Amino acid sequence: MSERETWSTNLGFVLAAIGSAVGLGNIWRFPWLTAENGGSAFLVVYLGLVVAIGVPGLVAEFVIGRRGHRDPVGAFRALSRSRWWPVVGVYAVGTTLLVLTFYSVVGGWILRYTVGSLTGAYVADPATYFGTVSFGPEAVVAHLVFLGVVGAIIATGVSGGIERSSKAMMPAIVVLLGGLAVWAFSLPGAAGGYEFFLSFDVATLRENFLAILGPAAGQALFTLSLGAGSMLTYASYLDRDESLPADATVIAVANTLIGVLTGLVVFPLLFSQGLPPGSGGEGALFIALAEAFASLPAGGVVAPLFFGVVLLAAVSSAISMLETPVAYLVDEHAVPRRRATLGVVGLLAVTGSATALAPSAFGLIAGTLADLALTGGLLAFVVFVGWVLGRDAVDEYRAGAGSLSTPLAGAWHALVAWGLPVVLGFTLLTSLASLAGVALGVELRVALTLGALVVVRTLVRMGRE
Ligand code: PHE
Ligand code: NA
Repeated sequence: MSERETWSTNLGFVLAAIGSAVGLGNIWRFPWLTAENGGSAFLVVYLGLVVAIGVPGLVAEFVIGRRGHRDPVGAFRALSRSRWWPVVGVYAVGTTLLVLTFYSVVGGWILRYTVGSLTGAYVADPATYFGTVSFGPEAVVAHLVFLGVVGAIIATGVSGGIERSSKAMMPAIVVLLGGLAVWAFSLPGAAGGYEFFLSFDVATLRENFLAILGPAAGQALFTLSLGAGSMLTYASYLDRDESLPADATVIAVANTLIGVLTGLVVFPLLFSQGLPPGSGGEGALFIALAEAFASLPAGGVVAPLFFGVVLLAAVSSAISMLETPVAYLVDEHAVPRRRATLGVVGLLAVTGSATALAPSAFGLIAGTLADLALTGGLLAFVVFVGWVLGRDAVDEYRAGAGSLSTPLAGAWHALVAWGLPVVLGFTLLTSLASLAGVALGVELRVALTLGALVVVRTLVRMGRE
């Protein structure tokens, strides 16, 4: 077999991983969920979960990838003796395909907004113009174009395609968003947006805490690309001389800052036009933004810049999803990269087109199934790192991290082995119960979570004997 690809620099890896993290999750899903779940109360819970689950979970996913040095399926095969763990890798590959099925449809929307705002076609009547964007034949075509762009980058390879494009896209996103935030600040009526986004109300938080927890956890995973195997795959192209916890922290901080920066553009803009977010579901945010741009004097110039940023963010995330099944075909079945890319893109062309024609399927995947799949995936990853890898995981954590990391590594491992499985198991059970329409009390859910974890732990123990 030919030599496996690698990043050319650690910075290249970090930028690619930030590119994976920063995406439609920050720009589209985050304002949408924040608005649906009571504004800043949601922001607070979400930020807490990024620190408590996101960063340690990201390190865990990196540990599997770098130590396994392969795609998700091959990594689990290399690191365990049980036949069952590679199934988790297959599940992860399936998750990236599932997420990409709706993600590339939204990518297609963004493409049309960008083109539409360049030509100014929507200015006269944005609601009507963009009414055709979300679902239907035009959405199918736009989604195919988006997939084509993503496929072209992946076909070019890890350092030549993913790394090189990330090095161009990430700085562009930050510079453009910063400029847009300054512009949004100058709009009359912007203050309402800041208040909605940033004011903190303990009463709302306390009242809604348990209801917010599920969506906030789902968003914390989604925004950091956790549980899908994409971060695992990116880390598999790394050498051992860099610190995984240091990289994970930089990635999470950058992702959060870019998310907040996006909020500082979106919310003032919407409020300045008297268009509070949150009503009308998934497509509404972009229509509202387009309306805001259409009625502002500088809107014709600013709109293409804004949608261009969103497009870069969407492309850099979608490439990390597509890379996962492609890496699987390359590593496990020795399929040449180009042919592997073509095959996976062909499959997604079909599933994505179906989704672009069926709003109900789209809603189910984007609103529920994607979160469930990511939560289940990360749960399996942390159980593996905590209970199967054991000391090896601590070694991998410490590689390249200096002496300070010794006590931190122990704390991290305890969190990954105990804290994360309980929180993720509880979240998963809660989402499954609400999907099935059964009401389970909190105590019962805690008891069921702990019971299930004891069973899994016993199975893992037996598998080791
Ligand atoms: N993190 C990306 C975003 O926020 C989405 C993503 C999920 C990317 C899972 C890869 C894997 O848009
Ligand atoms: Na991105």
